[in-house]
Amino acid sequence: MMASEILEKYIEFFKKQNHVQIVNSSLVPENDPTTLFTSSGMQPLIPYLLGEAHPQGKRLVNVQNCFRAGDIDEVGDNRHITFFRMLGNWSLGDYFKKEQILWFWEFLTSKEKGLGLSKDKLYVSVFEGFKNIPKDTESYEIWSDLLKKDELNPEERIFYYGVDKNWWSRTGVSDNMPVGEPGGLDTEVFYDFGPSANSGQEHHDKKKFGDKCHPNCDCGRYLEIGNSVFMQFKKTETGFEELPQKNVDFGGGLERLIAATENKQDIFQTSLFSPVIKRIAEVTKKEYEEHKEEIQIIADHFTAAVFMVSSNLFPSNKEQGYILRRLIRRGLDNFYTLGGINIDPILEQIVEQYRDTDEYLVEKFEHIKAVVLEEEQAYKKALAGGKKLIEKELITRGLLQGDELMGVVKIPAEVAFKSLASYGLGPTQLESLGYTFDRKELSELIKKHQDVSRKGAEKKFTGGLADHSEKTVMGHTATHLLHKTLRDMFGNDLHQTGSNITSERVRFDYNFDRKLTDEEIKRLEDTVNEKIKENLPVHFEIMNLVKAKDIGAIGLFDEKYSDNVKVYFVGGEKGSPTSDKSSSGRPLTDKPYSVEFCGGPHVDFTGEIKRFKIIKEEALGRSLRRIYAVVGD
Ligand code: SER
Repeated sequence: MMASEILEKYIEFFKKQNHVQIVNSSLVPENDPTTLFTSSGMQPLIPYLLGEAHPQGKRLVNVQNCFRAGDIDEVGDNRHITFFRMLGNWSLGDYFKKEQILWFWEFLTSKEKGLGLSKDKLYVSVFEGFKNIPKDTESYEIWSDLLKKDELNPEERIFYYGVDKNWWSRTGVSDNMPVGEPGGLDTEVFYDFGPSANSGQEHHDKKKFGDKCHPNCDCGRYLEIGNSVFMQFKKTETGFEELPQKNVDFGGGLERLIAATENKQDIFQTSLFSPVIKRIAEVTKKEYEEHKEEIQIIADHFTAAVFMVSSNLFPSNKEQGYILRRLIRRGLDNFYTLGGINIDPILEQIVEQYRDTDEYLVEKFEHIKAVVLEEEQAYKKALAGGKKLIEKELITRGLLQGDELMGVVKIPAEVAFKSLASYGLGPTQLESLGYTFDRKELSELIKKHQDVSRKGAEKKFTGGLADHSEKTVMGHTATHLLHKTLRDMFGNDLHQTGSNITSERVRFDYNFDRKLTDEEIKRLEDTVNEKIKENLPVHFEIMNLVKAKDIGAIGLFDEKYSDNVKVYFVGGEKGSPTSDKSSSGRPLTDKPYSVEFCGGPHVDFTGEIKRFKIIKEEALGRSLRRIYAVVGD
């Protein structure tokens, strides 16, 4: 079954259970300072899992493009990929364990409505309990009844696992979750490729589990194909509290579901990837069986790069751009190692594989190719620059005479590290340039450097999340005021082109063709601060798209939302029964100041923002400007 068929079947199945299809959000998350990429379907839904009302309702379904940077070094086996598509269905305080388990089982096993997988290939795991969160006997019983009906023995098919396997949150096990983060126990389904599927690798738990390998074993025999998270907890300072609603967060990797339906233990041999693998083998004149790891890395990294570039990213030395750069360069290293010269045919084949689900890739192909090519040139320059730097260092240190610049040269680890820091050349590239060095010493230097950066990153992560409910919420409402004020000052052709809000600052991008004057910045700030002082009430209404446009709602709006949308009003009376704050006694004005499409959350009254100060205004590109501002005390 092809990717598009599985995808359509899944969406149809859940639409029949009254789910509304929601958009595939951007691979680069808007307004989420905690992470560089969307790495799961639930990520754009966090506010709704925490209790905000979702404009499309309580039953949602979609496919979400995801990227997991943490898996870059894992690529090179039968199942790890960095870019994947996650099928997801959600209950936001609606159905719970029973419906979810029954439906997913039906989707997996029904020939007419789903994938028609053979039932005796499927295994299940459930949560065994941790601290004061009890064992999930409820899920066990539901699975048990279901399996018995199909004449399968539950004792042989359902396994209890601990918090390390059957607990899900964005930050992993429950102890790692920052305060305010939602999470919950889960139940997972595994597909069994059979005992001969582990490519000769030893079952690491053979002793413990005898001949039958365990579903969560990493040997490759079993593949997790779906994870139903029962998201009902929020981390507190002392433990957990129940969320206002019990949610279901289901995620299943489309690529893994293809592997199961095609009974292909190696994801790269499925109908989705195998034409790309074949093309790499053809172009490099190498056999897949003999160069699996390199070929898998090339296929995976360039697939991820294609999707990143199509999401408007460019390779750079910072954040998302840095990851993209790393993928392209690592992909090229492996491609060159195999003797590859021209990467174009590989990019072409990747786009060919995705064109029936992601047609826009075809339109963007020339752009994608140009960006990859430019990066390839930059990489070649970096290699040359790195070589020059190393030679200079060696000559300065008296380690190299001019006539020795040939052959393999051993270089000190600090010199290798310098070339890494300045030109991004890692061990593989240095070796390809003909240098040897003490790998251990270099990796210690790298580790020392990473520890310092990691400390910074960790600070950023907790900072972002801990303030999720305060500073960032204030920042969200401030951008609505800023957006409206800018349009009042410069006309309605001006509109927001992006934003990013952290606990430290608000970043707001808009189209405008010149620098703001000091006087204009002051007027802008003063007006926003006036609106803050007026302590305007904020409320939202859920309405149909046509009505929202009719009443002049502005904002970044994705046309893929077809029915209901959420519109936030800053100021004005509340005309909707969804709001319950009209009796608060705070001053209400007649006409809203700002009306904007938005998912929220927002402050209840603008006075909570306290203060708005612009700290920088700069050019972002042609006719694009960026404002940085701070809010609060
Ligand atoms: N959030 C869970 C996951 O990513 C299920 O959707 O696995």
